[in-house]
Amino acid sequence: MKDIRILGIETSCDETAAAVVSNGREILSNIVNSQISIHQQFGGVVPEVASRKHIENIAVVVDQAFKEAGLEYHDIDAVAVTNRPGLIGALLVGLSFAKAFAYGLNRPLIAVNHLYGHVYANFLEHLEVEFPAVCLVVSGGHTSLLLMEDTTSARLIGETRDDAAGEAFDKVARFMGLGYPGGPAIQQAASCGEAGKFKLPRVFLDRNDFEFSFSGLKTAAMNEWKKRERRGAANVYDMAAEFQAALVEVLVEKTLRAAERYQVGTVLLAGGVAANQELRRLMQARAKDIGIKVYYPSLKLCTDNAAMIAGSAHSQFVNGQFAPLNINAQASLMSL
Ligand code: KG4
Ligand code: ZN
Repeated sequence: MKDIRILGIETSCDETAAAVVSNGREILSNIVNSQISIHQQFGGVVPEVASRKHIENIAVVVDQAFKEAGLEYHDIDAVAVTNRPGLIGALLVGLSFAKAFAYGLNRPLIAVNHLYGHVYANFLEHLEVEFPAVCLVVSGGHTSLLLMEDTTSARLIGETRDDAAGEAFDKVARFMGLGYPGGPAIQQAASCGEAGKFKLPRVFLDRNDFEFSFSGLKTAAMNEWKKRERRGAANVYDMAAEFQAALVEVLVEKTLRAAERYQVGTVLLAGGVAANQELRRLMQARAKDIGIKVYYPSLKLCTDNAAMIAGSAHSQFVNGQFAPLNINAQASLMSL
């Protein structure tokens, strides 16, 4: 049978990315042009700047993806693009480009949910995942627990009531002067510090559900930091270590409780925060004790990329789920 090759395009936040994936499995190319160094000077992503940079970069990045794959434009079978959720102006750049490209080549357009893309990153690398599975999606904008019956069907079983895990990392890091993006900065600082010298709250661990809340932890960390600064006793390493421990412990405990409640033997991690070494380590260690298998994507596929978008689009291609050329971008998700 002929290979199905899909071009993926991703511009939902601050990475301009394009990739070609064959049969939903084989990554033929994966180009990510990060704008991090531009946004760093502002302490976070500036949406208008992100959109403008996407416009400058998108055609170059797509050409690089073809070149790396050794393909001509006409060699692809469909164009997949993230159309939700994300920064609206940033999404529109990728979506408009994808529409024009698909129309020009007379190929179908496939609209992809960015969060499904993150989940799918696992299936690009782990062919042996057994279902059902519980998937923890932890990105800059979302923290959710999904119950999955196969690679394409997911049911939401819990999510954050306020801040996402990545958002909490970013805001606390910014508050302590650690810069952007906050997750890697806190991870780095935490590796030089010690958790438990003082205690930050493990929010919602006492509740028997799968909801999260990180806004309270963020405020507690900031208050503790201010208090310690006044006393001249603020230690950025210990604060980063305790904050990371408090957040990771809740993510791990709740995810494994969900796995036990729904009697699944597999846990998947997805999204930028799944790059966190302490989250990976603790999840592996605790899951091993109770006989649950844990999978997560390699670092390059955890954070935003287009290979996950092209891969995720494969089943939509096979099922003929194509998007009309007047489809719009959505900043937030109406439903999963
Ligand atoms: O999935 P992602 O790349 O973009 C969104 O879809 O939001 O996630 C970005 C988030 C940021 O909040 C960033 O600080 C966080 O992922 N992140 C990390 C790490 N690497 C990225 N958080 C904790 N530890 C990391 N190593
Ligand atoms: Zn993302």
